[in-house]
Amino acid sequence: MWQPDCMVVHLPDPDSARGWCAEQRAAGRSIGFVPTMGGLHEGHLSLVRRAVAENEITCVSIFVNPLQFNDPGDLASYPRNLDDDIRQLQDIGCDMVFTGTFEQFFLDVESPEDIVQRDPGPGADGVEGAGRPGHFAGVATICERLFKVVGSARTYFGEKDFQQTLVVKDLARALGYPEIVVCPTVREPSGLAYSSRNVLLTDSERERAACISRALFSARHAWHQGECEAGKLREVMLRELDVDGIDVEYAELRDPHDWRPEAPAGSLVRAQALIAARIGKARLIDNLRLDRGA
Ligand code: PAF
Repeated sequence: MWQPDCMVVHLPDPDSARGWCAEQRAAGRSIGFVPTMGGLHEGHLSLVRRAVAENEITCVSIFVNPLQFNDPGDLASYPRNLDDDIRQLQDIGCDMVFTGTFEQFFLDVESPEDIVQRDPGPGADGVEGAGRPGHFAGVATICERLFKVVGSARTYFGEKDFQQTLVVKDLARALGYPEIVVCPTVREPSGLAYSSRNVLLTDSERERAACISRALFSARHAWHQGECEAGKLREVMLRELDVDGIDVEYAELRDPHDWRPEAPAGSLVRAQALIAARIGKARLIDNLRLDRGA
């Protein structure tokens, strides 16, 4: 029986990755794919572990996509540590990691201004999409390129980026592939969701940032107590978020199926609670489905 090598292969350009994946598929091996921007943490590693468990071959992309950053400071401070990322991937049985330059991903254009970005679809409306214009178009544009490199594969995304999962599901529907697998958010013991941006927090900011997940779980608790008015649930979240140094960008409720914004007095049937807040140098997002789970 074919056995994967224990060394992770690093392919430094998308073209060789495309060839490698095509060979794997021609040999009849199932491929699991985890697209990332590096700065790997437990959240990413949980996606990779799941891909390793469910597929014969697992590959990961690491590419900090400038098209999805609308804030140059955020792009500049985004953590980059390729050697460390590769070592972590090797330890958990990833088979191949590919990287590439902007020019290699966009061989067909002369300059970034010539890129025709994909319409990210209705999932990009509001919430993150409202505060970060162009972000989801940038995500959809690079994901199309990444999906075309890897081809048909189970492709894993974290629920922490809930709105992103709506956008990539739409994209996969339009392209006819890949299969999108959405995996649960992984949290630190304090409840803080793992994020590449957590490294930007000081110890005291990290402690205070735990109020974001507390707000979400309090809203879920209120829901289970029978509260289904969007305005009231929002108040529950804002009370928990009233912490020194936490600058709330939004605390919203949406129907996770049709992505409809809820009128404050409206009663919800299903609810996804979503928060973005700035603390120190970091902008953090998190979300929770209220009508599901314990
Ligand atoms: O979630 C991310 O890390 C990025 O948005 C992704 C999907 C790798 C596209 O750049």
